[in-house]
Amino acid sequence: DVEEKEELHEAWWKGKRDELVQLSREKGPSYVYSKDALIANTERLKELHSVDRFFYAMKANANIDVLKTFRSQDLGFECVSIGEVEEVFELFPDIDPGEVIFTPNFAPREEYEQAFDHGVNVTLDNIYPLQKWPEVFENRTIFLRIDPGHGHGHHDHVKTGGVHSKFGIPRFEIPEVKSIIDDISITVKGLHAHIGSGIKDPTQWKSTALILHEVAEELGGVDVLDLGGGFGIRENDTQASLNMKQVDELLKQFRDAHPNYELWVEPGRFLTATAGVLLANVTQLKGKGSVKYIGIDTGMNSFIRPALYGARHTIVNLSKLDKESTQVVNIVGPICESGDKLGIDRLFPESEEGDVILIANTGAYGRVMSSSYNLRMPATEILI
Ligand code: LLP
Repeated sequence: DVEEKEELHEAWWKGKRDELVQLSREKGPSYVYSKDALIANTERLKELHSVDRFFYAMKANANIDVLKTFRSQDLGFECVSIGEVEEVFELFPDIDPGEVIFTPNFAPREEYEQAFDHGVNVTLDNIYPLQKWPEVFENRTIFLRIDPGHGHGHHDHVKTGGVHSKFGIPRFEIPEVKSIIDDISITVKGLHAHIGSGIKDPTQWKSTALILHEVAEELGGVDVLDLGGGFGIRENDTQASLNMKQVDELLKQFRDAHPNYELWVEPGRFLTATAGVLLANVTQLKGKGSVKYIGIDTGMNSFIRPALYGARHTIVNLSKLDKESTQVVNIVGPICESGDKLGIDRLFPESEEGDVILIANTGAYGRVMSSSYNLRMPATEILI
């Protein structure tokens, strides 16, 4: 059933080919999100039966219609800035603040005060605020983000554990944290860890749970273990997918051994990546001998993942989907940087000006990381 759903939403854009070609020609470069695929992804996530609560990490895609779709599926929200918290309350004024978790990093003091005013779950990922601004935290209930000592993920830029990562409280500081929280009577309701992003190894969430459990026993009184996000997806057909059934089985083992803790997770990518595509139109072709370029009307200003992480997303010529691939090409944007390559060495059919190019699995960390570099406006967004 899980595999069927996965197949299904990999195919959503193929089924809408003509509609998408027309849309790209009319609107120019566009991120298109499928509401059905967002909902299918939510259903797949909820097949983690050992997890008690699900929060959407809205940094992955903060499009209003995407947020509304997830709210309609009863997801909470994980926010990393006060801007994200405020967006949630503006869109959903009646939301229970307990369904929002604020997990900032090196945020200014005022953001913690504002988050407490909203009544949301506040996560501290450093001892500094407790030492320097105790009056902000006195008599409060908080979460602590723990650095389990190692990171994991698709690229060094997204691994968030160990001394070379700026995130989380190192375990050696726990006794000092404990003495401060006792002094200023803070209740630690939950512990949090997020070791990185784009993880395909199903054992990681249970390992994180075991580490958080050790810290929880050290502190006492902890009810919730938030295991973060990080669930990886297939960016192209050659990649493996993460076996969510196995993740669930492993977490079930943890739960059976430690039934007194609630488990929360906060994925971003898993919910949105496969539900989004980026459409662009071919502008010009170039051949430097055997090295060929297909130019499109948007580039790293809309989608920076290939340049930033060497990400390799499926790319197709939507206008020539049924044509045989006969050449190896580079798909490039119009930005003044040699790194403005969306696809390197791709097998492609003969293409021409006006063809619509589709970059798949771009619903996460796409539009949110875009810019107007070169004063080229990034792709617009539309939910269908
Ligand atoms: N929770 C926390 C505390 C996080 O820092 C993140 C992501 C998430 C949850 C959600 O992680 P996800 O489930 O989406 O992997 N721009 C990079 C990814 C950066 C992730 C930042 N933190 C990329 O495009 O791969």
